[in-house]
Amino acid sequence: MTHPIQGLGTMAKGKRRQVARSKTLPEIITITSGKGGVGKTNIAVNLGILLRQRKQRVLIMDADLHLGKLDVILGITPRYTLAELIDGSRSMEEIILHHPSGIDILPATSGELTLLEADTHMLKILAESFSSIQAQYDYLFVDTGAGVSPTVLTMALGADKVILIITPEPASISDVYAMVKVIHSKSPELPLILMPNRVRSMEDGLELHKKFNLVTQKFLKTTVHYGGSVVEDTAVGQAVSRQRPFVIEYPRSQAANNLQLVCHRLLKLPPREFEHRSNIFSRLRINRKIVGSLLT
Ligand SMILES: Nc1ncnc2c1ncn2[C@@H]1O[C@H](COP(=O)(O)OP(=O)(O)OP(=O)(O)O)[C@@H](O)[C@H]1O
Ligand SMILES: [Mg+2]
Repeated sequence: MTHPIQGLGTMAKGKRRQVARSKTLPEIITITSGKGGVGKTNIAVNLGILLRQRKQRVLIMDADLHLGKLDVILGITPRYTLAELIDGSRSMEEIILHHPSGIDILPATSGELTLLEADTHMLKILAESFSSIQAQYDYLFVDTGAGVSPTVLTMALGADKVILIITPEPASISDVYAMVKVIHSKSPELPLILMPNRVRSMEDGLELHKKFNLVTQKFLKTTVHYGGSVVEDTAVGQAVSRQRPFVIEYPRSQAANNLQLVCHRLLKLPPREFEHRSNIFSRLRINRKIVGSLLT
């Protein structure tokens, strides 16, 4: 079996044991992919639940409400979004949803508001409201859409770590590579974690990472860490159609077992140094400017 911290690559050896989480600010992990429909939302939700089962407090922010399907997968309907916080009609506590599994959900965007269009004053309101609740969480997962778009890039550059979901199809692989290239050009220190999903076997997943990493090392001079793989498993689709997370509905499925290993790996990764952490909405303000200049 692969050692849980294999693939940490450039992360300093001395820091591998330092896994104590900050009690003040959550670690921000953006989950994204090159191609759509590869399992981002399923992995965000189910990994969040496994972390919760290991006593970690997790908030999942749905940064892509129309495509993200977080509500469909969890069988919950958000009543409010951050738009109601900005217009002053609801508080952050009223917007956050509590799922019975113990994870919380922040429905961030709506038809009326996208985070990239929010003006500086709005982002200030969001940052202040979020400051009042962020200490309640160890992890903030940001579930995004796919591909190199301004929203996805802003959310990726604002993270402490980025999980890139990849499936074995050629389009998924080349699209993830494009993503790594652009993220790396702006933030070379940001740890990128590749997570193969829908693979035939764990060996295939490991091989996919190995090949991908050879390419990024050769052409971008950077290492993409291995986050563990999840195999193709009918339990995932069945759980989705029941609107229940697969780690709860089918806890002994292969996909759930694989994700346990992923969870274990994630907990072993060194957290970002506390002094570099800041509020996600304050980061958004800075990063969307960078992204604006990058994509024009
Ligand atoms: N390991 C897996 N085994 C089998 N099916 C899977 C697996 N992972 C995901 N799927 C299928 O893929 C579908 C899409 O998953 P999901 O909605 O999580 O993808 P996504 O990347 O978030 O999509 P989008 O880009 O639209 O947000 C699921 O409904 C499920 O049926
Ligand atoms: Mg999704």
